[in-house]
Amino acid sequence: MVSTKYLSVFSPATEQQRKENFDSYWEFTQQHGGELLEQDKDLAKKRDRLKHFQDNPVKLRKPLADPEAFYRNYVDMQDDLKSLDRMTLMLTGIYKFARHEWVGIKGAWDVVPDMANSHALEDKISRVHLAEEFCHVRLFDEMLKTCGLDKVEWVPLGPVKEKIYEQFPKLPGFLMDTPAFVTELMGVTFYCHLYRLFDDVLADEPEVCARLKELLDEITIDEVAHVGQRRNFIGPIGMKVSKALVKPFYTLFFKDIPEVGQLFNVEQMIKDGIAFDFNDLPEYMLDRSWVPSYCKA
Ligand SMILES: [Fe+2]
Ligand SMILES: [Fe+2]
Repeated sequence: MVSTKYLSVFSPATEQQRKENFDSYWEFTQQHGGELLEQDKDLAKKRDRLKHFQDNPVKLRKPLADPEAFYRNYVDMQDDLKSLDRMTLMLTGIYKFARHEWVGIKGAWDVVPDMANSHALEDKISRVHLAEEFCHVRLFDEMLKTCGLDKVEWVPLGPVKEKIYEQFPKLPGFLMDTPAFVTELMGVTFYCHLYRLFDDVLADEPEVCARLKELLDEITIDEVAHVGQRRNFIGPIGMKVSKALVKPFYTLFFKDIPEVGQLFNVEQMIKDGIAFDFNDLPEYMLDRSWVPSYCKA
């Protein structure tokens, strides 16, 4: 049954509504992640959740046939894409997506004000947001470990790309807010497609399939809230710009990860991004996430 409880993420909002929604998001995010552990770029509740997974590990029934194929290609694709099995492609694809996320937040963490120096509510929200993103990288790392890949290193991008990512958060809001929003939306779209891919690639591995879904859910629930939160930074013109950016952004970003074109339908992802309205998300996720008031029907 299709839900009609929610409206397009591109729905208009007044200045006053956006102000109220920042207050509401701040309330949400504090109870959602628990105490901010700034030294560790971590959040108390998320740390506990990860520990629960680590303390109750799940293993593949049949270990990866060729882990070296993963290690050879996870940073840069060396082999012919067509020669790799879907499981390896899925795992290197997950790493590459997460690596971009990691590089982006690493650059931002050092340039945005820490909590003690965050006076505006938006700055406090952004600090906690970044800490959540670091938790996501840990969850992705746990996904790879669950598949027996415990020698994964988080490798920086080349110096030029690293510099670009470092400059991004210093841009003024009218330039930074729309791409930041579209990036979050792209995350949610990718994770929804990845969730369905698990069923397909891990059909013979029910335990690992269920665990990867649990790990991914933790990430997607945060990202759904980030989508609304980043949307809330944007006024009417910026919303039009954002909608127009979905296609070029998704196209460019996924071109950089060859696995994605092999495993996913990028055209469909673009359509899903433009049509995004929260209604396709399961109830249990929305219960733990946050949706702006002006996206509720
Ligand atoms: Fe994330
Ligand atoms: Fe995010």
